[in-house]
Amino acid sequence: MKCISKTGSASIADLRSNLSVHLRFLCSDDLAEVKRLCRDWFPVEYPESWYEEITSNAKFFSLAAILDRKIVGLIVSEVKVKGRIHKEDADILALSFPSHTQVAYILSLGVVERYRRQGIATLLLDSLVSYLTSGDKSNVKAIYLHVLASNTTAIKFYEHRNFKRHNYLPYYYSIQTQPKDGLSYVMYVNGGQPPWSLVDYIKHFGSQLSTQLSRIQPGQFSNAVARRTRNWFSGIIPARFQHSSSSNGSGSSGSGNGNGSGSNGASSSGTASGSGASQSLQVHNL
Ligand SMILES: CC(C)(COP(=O)(O)OP(=O)(O)OC[C@H]1O[C@@H](n2cnc3c(N)ncnc32)[C@H](O)[C@@H]1OP(=O)(O)O)[C@@H](O)C(=O)NCCC(=O)NCCS
Repeated sequence: MKCISKTGSASIADLRSNLSVHLRFLCSDDLAEVKRLCRDWFPVEYPESWYEEITSNAKFFSLAAILDRKIVGLIVSEVKVKGRIHKEDADILALSFPSHTQVAYILSLGVVERYRRQGIATLLLDSLVSYLTSGDKSNVKAIYLHVLASNTTAIKFYEHRNFKRHNYLPYYYSIQTQPKDGLSYVMYVNGGQPPWSLVDYIKHFGSQLSTQLSRIQPGQFSNAVARRTRNWFSGIIPARFQHSSSSNGSGSSGSGNGNGSGSNGASSSGTASGSGASQSLQVHNL
């Protein structure tokens, strides 16, 4: 099987270290070499089928950095739909993104030890990010991965490249039968957004409130607050309990002081009329 160059003649990358690295996709001929490298880099054991898949199934973006015909680094990623990602990662995207939204998972990234800190992993990751942010990949909204919580080199690497910590995953890995904690990291692309946190909700409602309040003239403050309060109540009380008033309902005169007649329905006092009739609440459009 022919191993395909990523971008033809433009595939020689000049790294800061002056290494001339060639990028190409993995192919089935690479299986043994990839297996040897991954065993060197990662403390987890992958099944044979995993190596077969990443070296020959086109659904994987499996890119290798080649120096003197040898693999010196590789990145493997897979695009999935949001609706089919694992439970522990299900909250990567905001709820507003439908289940067919795509996300890219980085299964593997490694560089041969003697070629580290020369920009090879950055080159591989940049190639993946540019592949996912150009052409027809605009439906991919996030790139995510898992890393051992103790792998500080990799964590620093990702954090310096716009990945944000997402979840802490206790006992996520089993390393030589020992449970080890993991972390998930996410980079948002193509307009992807994380779910809202409590702080986001507070900020949102705070800014909505301040926009509403800024529209109120100082002299109208108490009326306006009363009006908004009524509107809020009318929004939560079922329509059958709401009185459809024939009054003009302008609510702007400042006279809606709750005289108990129930005629204007604009009482801001919220007190019952004394006649036993239920309090009428009226909707005003602000
Ligand atoms: C994590 C890993 C992939 C990084 O690979 P790498 O090729 O060393 O990464 P890079 O060279 O692109 O970047 C590493 C650092 O070297 C720096 N660097 C790059 N070129 C440099 C140069 N010429 N001179 C000095 N520093 C350089 C980068 O700025 C970067 O520092 P930073 O992270 O503080 O920003 C590598 O350590 C590795 O293979 N680890 C084992 C496997 C692993 O843990 N993979 C991650 C699993 S999720």
